[in-house]
Amino acid sequence: MLSSRGIFLSCLTLFLALAGLIMFFWSLPLTKHQAPQPKANQYSAKNIEQCNNSLSIAKEEKPILLLWFWPENYFFDFSDCKTFYNYDGCKLTDNRSLYSNADAVLLFHKAISWDRSNLPPSPRPPFQKWIWFNVESPTNTAKKPGLENLFNLTLSYREDADIPVRLRLTTNKKADEKFEIPKKNKLVCWIVSNNADFTGVGTRNKYYNELSKHIEIHLFGKAHGTFLDYKDYYPTIASCKFYLSFENSIHKDYITEKFNGPLSVGTVPVVLGPPRSNYEQFAPGEAFIHVDDFPDAKSLAEYLLQLDKDEDAYHRYFNWRKHLTARPHLILKNQEFILAICTACDHVGRHKEYREAHDIYKWFFN
Ligand SMILES: *[C@@H]1O[C@H](CO)[C@@H](O)[C@H](O)[C@H]1NC(C)=O
Ligand SMILES: *[C@@H]1O[C@H](CO)[C@@H](O)[C@H](O)[C@H]1NC(C)=O
Ligand SMILES: *[C@@H]1O[C@H](CO)[C@@H](O)[C@H](O)[C@H]1NC(C)=O
Repeated sequence: MLSSRGIFLSCLTLFLALAGLIMFFWSLPLTKHQAPQPKANQYSAKNIEQCNNSLSIAKEEKPILLLWFWPENYFFDFSDCKTFYNYDGCKLTDNRSLYSNADAVLLFHKAISWDRSNLPPSPRPPFQKWIWFNVESPTNTAKKPGLENLFNLTLSYREDADIPVRLRLTTNKKADEKFEIPKKNKLVCWIVSNNADFTGVGTRNKYYNELSKHIEIHLFGKAHGTFLDYKDYYPTIASCKFYLSFENSIHKDYITEKFNGPLSVGTVPVVLGPPRSNYEQFAPGEAFIHVDDFPDAKSLAEYLLQLDKDEDAYHRYFNWRKHLTARPHLILKNQEFILAICTACDHVGRHKEYREAHDIYKWFFN
């Protein structure tokens, strides 16, 4: 129990501390501003702001997230995290001299050497978390040995990663009545930049070959010799009624910007990838067409041709836009990893819990 003497002493201490604090702030404007007579309102507003600043210094600093490798040497300005996503939860750096102070280290899987010699040096600070950074699908991920039990957090497109990376649709309470379906002058389009067989594109190529026998498909992109300028990417997709959102390999949750592009500009995606129910975790079922909805490519082609003639039925694919918003993703080459890195920053700023990620390959490749 606290005696009355104890209470008195506590109050006295509190009083003295407060008085000290008040005197401290009182002294600030006097030392900062030499001008004898500051204008009244400037005096109050500006200096209170200063008090705020000096107080926040005493608050806990943002955790440091060290980007150990620049993925594919695609450099960008770390302030982009705030600009594009309003993520500001950590202090991002690529300065390796800050290693022993870094709260977390982001390690891009593809850049790690097979002998692990380019990993950060020992000893590893006990408070530090290593993040396994891999946004490729299992088909395009090398099983480099010795990495299974090194990490604390996983970052991936997978929803069950510690840090899932995805640009999500957002809800709007007020119905958006402004949206208009863009003018269309093509039926089906497809932009293909990668056609390397080893990346698992066999399934989608087979489907495309079959589909193209029954319906005209406008092709764009590196793989077809018609390189599309970045500034033409969204306008081109918008000018087509349907867009083939065919993933290069088929895995749970592996639903990429190929799906987001048409959703964001007002084009109906025709998807080939994981099952429909997986897509419906991220977008309403009536926003897209799944190749599995049809017994074969020929019946899909017939359905698309039918929708081409039935305006009302086509328009129904955009009803969802009233209450949901799809944001366009970043499309420049050097912007490919910005969302992933910024999402890691946001996570590190919010989570301080202890964590070990074990058997990451068993988790990832299953
Ligand atoms: C401190 O700053 C916040 C916003 O930055 C402001 O709302 C608040 O009024 C400030 N506090 C004081 C004491 O001025
Ligand atoms: C990296 O950090 C160290 C230690 O804070 C500093 O001395 C150095 O100037 C920094 N290097 C760069 C390139 O910012
Ligand atoms: C991070 O994971 C490693 C390896 O499992 C473990 O030794 C370390 O204690 C973990 N550290 C933190 C801060 O979570």
